Amino acid sequence: MRALATIDRAALAHNLGRVRALAPGRAVYAAVKADGYGHGAATVANALAGADGFAVSSLDEALQLRWSGIAQPIMTLSQPLDAQVCACAAEHDIRPVVFDRTHLDALAGYAGPDLSVWVKLDTGMHRLGFAAPDAGAIDARLKELRHVKRLGWLTHLGCADDPDSPMTERQLATFAAGTGRLGGQRSIANSAGVLAWPAAHADVIRPGIMLYGSSPMAGATAADYDLRPAMHLSAPIISRRRVAAGEPIGYGATWRAPEDMEVGVIGIGYGDGYPRHAPSGTPVLVRGRRAAVVGRVSMDMITIDLRAVPEAEVGERVTLWGPGLPADEVAAAAGTIAYELFCRLTPRVAFEVV
Ligand SMILES: Cc1ncc(COP(=O)(O)O)c(C=O)c1O
Repeated sequence: MRALATIDRAALAHNLGRVRALAPGRAVYAAVKADGYGHGAATVANALAGADGFAVSSLDEALQLRWSGIAQPIMTLSQPLDAQVCACAAEHDIRPVVFDRTHLDALAGYAGPDLSVWVKLDTGMHRLGFAAPDAGAIDARLKELRHVKRLGWLTHLGCADDPDSPMTERQLATFAAGTGRLGGQRSIANSAGVLAWPAAHADVIRPGIMLYGSSPMAGATAADYDLRPAMHLSAPIISRRRVAAGEPIGYGATWRAPEDMEVGVIGIGYGDGYPRHAPSGTPVLVRGRRAAVVGRVSMDMITIDLRAVPEAEVGERVTLWGPGLPADEVAAAAGTIAYELFCRLTPRVAFEVV
């Protein structure tokens, strides 16, 4: 018995349906980088068989999808390009995003089967991409390359999770001005773009976190958008004890029992990826009822207050996040985001797919 992540294929498919309802007619490239946001890239890609394509970070991640039988187009979002990468990408119909001058040099030297690429423009986030006004010149350069096919233009939104931020509209305007009448498809929206910025939907959307059933938006929950959690993380109660009023629990004695009370010890800790910074009060679910972490998270265990569920028994499983307890809520309590909770699960956690 150990920590278990149960991946719900039906929830993934449902969430893809929500994406399609919110952005009808757009091609959906599901973001499955970082091993499908920690859910298992191949599992997710198979459950999202209806997606038009997939977005990953690197060539390695793209190859893993190909080797697991995924046939749709795959774009790499942050893979540096050199001659070897170009050849391998072309061989496996993997479509790199070109975002740096060094890539243009690599493409200029490329001679092999046709290589399809996207071009990323920096419209204000200032992380990756060419300055938007340079798009025309880059387009002209790529047109001279016989073996390179430019699919379209891509940018990334830095503040789309904030509906009041003026940055998104500025980014959209910069992108429109830079790409002007250039041919090719347009891809702008991440999940927040899908949810809050219809003007960003363009031709190809790249949702990630919403497919896993979390909300990227500051003031709205996943349930507000009818998104379902794709991961249920659970772990067993491995011991329980009565702790006398005033006695401390765990390392550093950071929490003391306010009264004589029952405490449960759960077999999950930061060694499994449960966030060490989750403070006392972070919610867990026992028999569908809320209970709370008390004391510090240790490597293999957490301790929880069982006063709300006195009948809980050793051996039964407790929900750390999943149906009934949004990962977004646990993440907020621990000072992080659901993306990080999902990605940080360690190999010690068992996975099952239902
Ligand atoms: C370029 C790009 N597109 C799309 C996504 C998907 O974003 P989200 O998970 O917020 O939908 C990411 C994720 O970081 C990204 O870097």
